[in-house]
This record gives sequence, structure tokens and C-alpha cells, in this order.
Amino acid sequence: MKNTLVIASHKPHILEFVDSLNKDADLSVRLWDYHEINIEIEKGVSRVSCGDESLDDFDEILVLAAPDHLHHVFSTIGLYAETHGLSMHDHTFGDASGKLYQMMNLQNAGLNVPDTFYGTPEFLEKALFKMGGVGVLKSTHGTKGNQNYLVNSPLMLRQILAENENTTFILQNFIKNDGDYREIVINYTAFLSIFRSSGGKDHRNNTSLGGSAKIVEDVDEELLRLAESAARAMKIEFAGVDVMKDQDSGEYYILEINRTPQFASGSFVDEKTEALKKYLKN
Ligand SMILES: Nc1ncnc2c1ncn2[C@@H]1O[C@H](COP(=O)(O)OP(=O)(O)O)[C@@H](O)[C@H]1O
Ligand SMILES: [Mg+2]
Repeated sequence: MKNTLVIASHKPHILEFVDSLNKDADLSVRLWDYHEINIEIEKGVSRVSCGDESLDDFDEILVLAAPDHLHHVFSTIGLYAETHGLSMHDHTFGDASGKLYQMMNLQNAGLNVPDTFYGTPEFLEKALFKMGGVGVLKSTHGTKGNQNYLVNSPLMLRQILAENENTTFILQNFIKNDGDYREIVINYTAFLSIFRSSGGKDHRNNTSLGGSAKIVEDVDEELLRLAESAARAMKIEFAGVDVMKDQDSGEYYILEINRTPQFASGSFVDEKTEALKKYLKN
């Protein structure tokens, strides 16, 4: 018998509906409330779960309730389903925006991303503990360092979540760094590397928050190829890829890929214009 998962909410009429399906001896149906879904993306392994049940326990997933603002989460689950041989209906949740979707997509492409967790406050608290008590809690749709917090206690984590109820967050392990790279990648070719650093004044290196920036010429080939692969995995042709080098392991990690990166504003407009000209003349 096929194991079917219904994702909706625990509203009484849904519970009744699932009960009525289960009365049929040929059906085996479980219900997950989408508020309780947890997603983890760790070195080479990802997992979608609810309590102690895993998405892998099912053959077929039926999404019967999905609020618009969480379509990016359902799209992320869809990516997982696709790569794990699960059939999900509807399989065309098409919201490829946000950092959670990006992390799952890059992980599926075999590229390095920070350990990333999405889910209930309890789940995130456990994840924080697992990562040694320190992590970066950031909005899936934040920009320019907004709604991005360095958390170092369960209390702080809970407080930020409670104060931002309408924001979808991910929690990541904090990568030790002295700055990060913004790679301008046009049509999957790296054209320009900008190194940005807060100089230790903030855990965020965004120049919009006062971080310094410099152009770097002799960038590691590995970093360039990683940024190009990331843009390709996300199918973003004009990309600003943020990459960080872990000072402990020396490994590179992709933090995010910005669509429509600023060409005509921000730092190094002349250099960015040159890069664009070089591409257009080709
Ligand atoms: N996992 C992480 N470890 C260490 N620093 C991080 C991590 N995630 C983000 N940061 C810092 O926060 C900054 C902003 O995060 P980012 O994911 O690029 O979001 P955005 O720039 O869209 O606000 C990064 O440039 C980096 O300095
Ligand atoms: Mg960024």
C-alpha cells in the first residue's frame, strides 16, 4: 500500500477529512501541519521532517493548504522531493525566491552551503545547541544585512522569533571569517571580485552597513568556479554571489545569490560598468 502524506493544517475539518480517507482499507494517509515542518540542510545531507516523521517515510505528498507567503518553503520541499524520488502534488510550487530555497538548491547541486535550519522555535533551539550555541538567524527574504542576527543563546533566539512573528527565518552555523566576497557573475562567468569586511565591527560585512570594500585581482580559482556553479544552479544570469571563506577549515561557502545585483550604484560602479561592457561586447 502507498503511504500518502497530506500537508495542510490541524483544522477540525481537515482532521475529519483525513480520517474519512483512512476508513478506506486501501489507503494509508498521515497529516502534517505545515506550521510544524522542519527542514535541515547539512554537509551533504538534507532532511524534511515533522516531529519524528521524515518525508522519506512517504511515497506521495499531497499539499492541501499552502499560504502564499510560504510558497518558497513548499518550493524548497518540492526540490527535496524531486531529488529523493518522491511524488509531490502540486509539484509546481514555483517560488524560487529566498535563502532557504537557494540553500536547498545549491546543496542538491553538490555545492558548499552553511548548515541551514528552518522550522519551529523548538527545532531551531535544538539546532543552535547542536552548532555550539552560536548561529546566524536571518530572514529568508532579508537584504543588505537586515533582519540578520548573531544569536548566542536560546533566550535571544526565542526573543527575536517572538518579536518578528511574520518573518520566515533560517538559522545557520556561524562561519568564522574576516570578510566575504561579492562575485559579479554574468552569464555564468565571474567578471569581478569585491572583498568586503566590517573590520570586526559587526558580524555582517555588507557595505550598506559601513563595511569596507576592495577589488581583488588574484582570487582563488576555486572560489570563482564555485560562484559560477552557484549562479548556474540558480539559473541567475546577472548574479551577485556572496561567498565566505571559513577561516578554520579554509573551505568556501555560498551565503546567497543576488538577482539583479547593483550595477549602476553601490561600490565600484566604474569597474562594474567595465565588466558589463566587456560582456556586452563579446
Ligand atoms: N552563516 C554565516 N556565517 C557568518 N556570517 C554570515 C553568515 N550568514 C550571513 N553572514 C554575514 O551576514 C551578511 C549578510 O548575509 P547575507 O546572507 O549575504 O544576506 P543579505 O546580504 O541579503 O542581507 C553576510 O555578508 C555575512 O557577513
Ligand atoms: Mg548578502
